[in-house]
Amino acid sequence: MTATTLSKETLQSVLEGGRSGERELVAFRRELHAKPELSLQESETAARVAEELKKLGLEVRTGVGAHGIVADLVGPVAGRTVALRADMDALPIEEETGLEFASQRPGVMHACGHDAHTAMLLGAARLLVQQKDKLRGRVRFLFQSAEEINQGAKLMIEQGALDGVDEIYGLHNLPTLAAGKVATRYGSLMGSVDRIEIKLQGRGGHGAMPDQTIDPVVAGSAIVMGLQTAVSREVSPFAPVVVTIGKIHAGDSYNVIPHRAEMVGTIRTFSPDVQKTMRERIERLVCTIAEAYRCKAELTYTELSPVLVNHDANVAYVEQVTDAMIGRELRVEAAPTLGGEDFALYLQQVPGCFFWLGAGPQEGAENAFGLHHPKFTLNEECLPLGASMLAAVAMSRLSDAQ
Ligand code: NI
Repeated sequence: MTATTLSKETLQSVLEGGRSGERELVAFRRELHAKPELSLQESETAARVAEELKKLGLEVRTGVGAHGIVADLVGPVAGRTVALRADMDALPIEEETGLEFASQRPGVMHACGHDAHTAMLLGAARLLVQQKDKLRGRVRFLFQSAEEINQGAKLMIEQGALDGVDEIYGLHNLPTLAAGKVATRYGSLMGSVDRIEIKLQGRGGHGAMPDQTIDPVVAGSAIVMGLQTAVSREVSPFAPVVVTIGKIHAGDSYNVIPHRAEMVGTIRTFSPDVQKTMRERIERLVCTIAEAYRCKAELTYTELSPVLVNHDANVAYVEQVTDAMIGRELRVEAAPTLGGEDFALYLQQVPGCFFWLGAGPQEGAENAFGLHHPKFTLNEECLPLGASMLAAVAMSRLSDAQ
């Protein structure tokens, strides 16, 4: 089965529809950008989205998975249900872009472009409402809370957002790819995200008399180094894995050996099979190294997000729509990344595809500030294309010829 049963004329009209709505898209994205909200706190953003969706005549369910929104657009003929998803949360980062519409909230910034994702999905909803009579089935719009802390998708699923959904699509902006381009990838696209927390209990004492103490700092240091062997000595060099300890805390003084040490870190993998093996490796290394240094270790291992694995058929549909819409020469193969995305959870439930939308400058995009950077900016030219792409993918899957 192919996806692009849409005529070239229909695709062009969707593309032009996106372009003609550019001013509105930019205005809405800037409005959200100026007033970013952290994960699980997206109440104002959600209220604005709900207001706009209601203007389109959609039935809107709010408060799904914290502040998430579920809205269905139902075509005249029964058929499958295609979900499109955007995320709405911002990051605890102090914005340094100097833009006139920069964050008005100290320490909070849309540094991952979720403001743009929200605007694009709203744009897609506008386009699809115009094409409603041609839809066989329904489109479900998912505006999700708390992607940045890997909680939103899980909550949405628990609260029925995927009930009846046959397939799902979503995109993420990419500032290091020029606007106008799209990047796709079969199979694994993004890494799994696990979080580890290690608490070491020693016995504190005078910094000059280590023999009378059990030093958790030395034990912790050995653990940090030892954990790297989980990657370098236990996993195939052809299977990407990262073990990062991002935070260490122990002690308050230069001459005191503390009682305790605490460390927090993340494990990333690119294969669901490898991810399954990591908990045992980390537990074994942490506990046995601590024991060797006479410390007691307590490990909390949390699997936050699985590997994001695209489904082949759905990647093919997105590629067909992309090529018909913007031309094969503007589609590239996405590089793999160990950055995580909780869209992965949806893909464990229903088939679908997540893809990158170029959001960088036309020249020198590879040097642009990346996602989560305080100087991250986004080329707003990507907004109409993203809206049109999402709309066209849904339409192609719900067209009469299916
Ligand atoms: Ni993001």
